[in-house]
Amino acid sequence: MINTPFILPSGEKLPNRIAKAALTERLSDASHLPNQKHSTLYDTWAKGGAGLLISGNIMVDEKYLEAAGNVAVHHLSPEAPFKLWTRSVLAYDTAFWAQLNHPGRQATLFSSTKPISASDVQLKKNGMFGKPRPMTEEEIEDVINRFVQSANFCRRVGFTGVQIHAAHGYLISQFLSPRTNKRSDQWGGSIENRSRLLLTIVERMRSKVGNEFSISVKLNSADFQKGGFDEQDALFVINALEKGGVDLLEISGGTYEDFVAFTKSHIKDSTLAREAYFIEFAKAVRKQSTIPIMVTGGLRSLDFCKEVLTNKELDILGFGRPFLLDERFPKGFLDGSLDRVEEPNIKTAARLYDMGIAGFYDYQIERLATGKSLKLTYPGWRGAMRMTRNELWKGIKNKI
Ligand SMILES: Cc1cc2nc3c(=O)[nH]c(=O)nc-3n(C[C@H](O)[C@H](O)[C@H](O)COP(=O)(O)O)c2cc1C
Repeated sequence: MINTPFILPSGEKLPNRIAKAALTERLSDASHLPNQKHSTLYDTWAKGGAGLLISGNIMVDEKYLEAAGNVAVHHLSPEAPFKLWTRSVLAYDTAFWAQLNHPGRQATLFSSTKPISASDVQLKKNGMFGKPRPMTEEEIEDVINRFVQSANFCRRVGFTGVQIHAAHGYLISQFLSPRTNKRSDQWGGSIENRSRLLLTIVERMRSKVGNEFSISVKLNSADFQKGGFDEQDALFVINALEKGGVDLLEISGGTYEDFVAFTKSHIKDSTLAREAYFIEFAKAVRKQSTIPIMVTGGLRSLDFCKEVLTNKELDILGFGRPFLLDERFPKGFLDGSLDRVEEPNIKTAARLYDMGIAGFYDYQIERLATGKSLKLTYPGWRGAMRMTRNELWKGIKNKI
């Protein structure tokens, strides 16, 4: 099963069931274009045998960044650097999608001290985020256009699909959640209104790029915050996405306030026992929808992957960190020579937990992108310092 190809509604064939979920690369400079490091990194991953590689989040507006080293795209971006990037993957039998994102209130302080969002609800985390300003109608229209034009640009430069990032508390997810969306116009209130931004983007994107270009959406099953986006909301949105012709739904969960995919908090013991945190929700989706499903978060053993594929609980297995933990992965899963991917004990102070973990993985990305092998003994606290230094330094350069 794991080696069985999967055909998406767009007609695109994924050669096997293993997908690399988006991992922000933070490898770009102030130009926000992809470079040689992106090509080296993705060449390495494509050789590894995954059926689908999804890029790290690419910003649709370079004024608002998720990280200082993000790639950003707009319809006038130069095509050549992107074509070099996609060529590094398309030489192999691998689908390659660009993940498109707008951070909204989760924009770094360096890219914007006055971010935009659905409403003015500030993200309070280590003083790292500015108070957002509610978007005007014109700004909402501009963001919709940016997603649509960026998808079309990605099609032109060789990506075989795009993924809209509607999870993890970024802008689209801020509109979806009643905690961050306090609007009383057509973009807020009921779930019909809160999902209007996402659904409008999907609808216009589809009519721009045609039916043969894959469109995926990454969505939270819930954001696990009191009064936030919940599973009932998610099921409503998924029904609408199916009608809108979305080719693959990736299920995830959490926001910067609590990134459950890392912390595993709020996850029931019965679910944790089943390795992949969001698989129970995937079952509820299966009951009401025929949309192809990818689940990401916690998949680590070959046996479990085989089990959920055999039970048809999902169609595509999504992996993030395993691509940065074992160079035998995913080939070893495809040929049966690797049983599981182990997670190292990453040394980091509790207070710096998120930064330490992110810094550790960020460092592994840099190593692969410069042709080196993984170094799993690298301490998380060093990763946190390295990442903070890079963010500050690149952030200053972005402003110059
Ligand atoms: C270093 C790092 C960067 C990430 N960047 C992104 C991103 O750009 N977009 C996204 O949707 N998720 C991102 N994620 C989340 C992963 O795609 C995935 O959902 C999460 O790691 C859980 O899956 P896993 O248990 O297989 O790692 C990132 C995770 C890590 C560790």
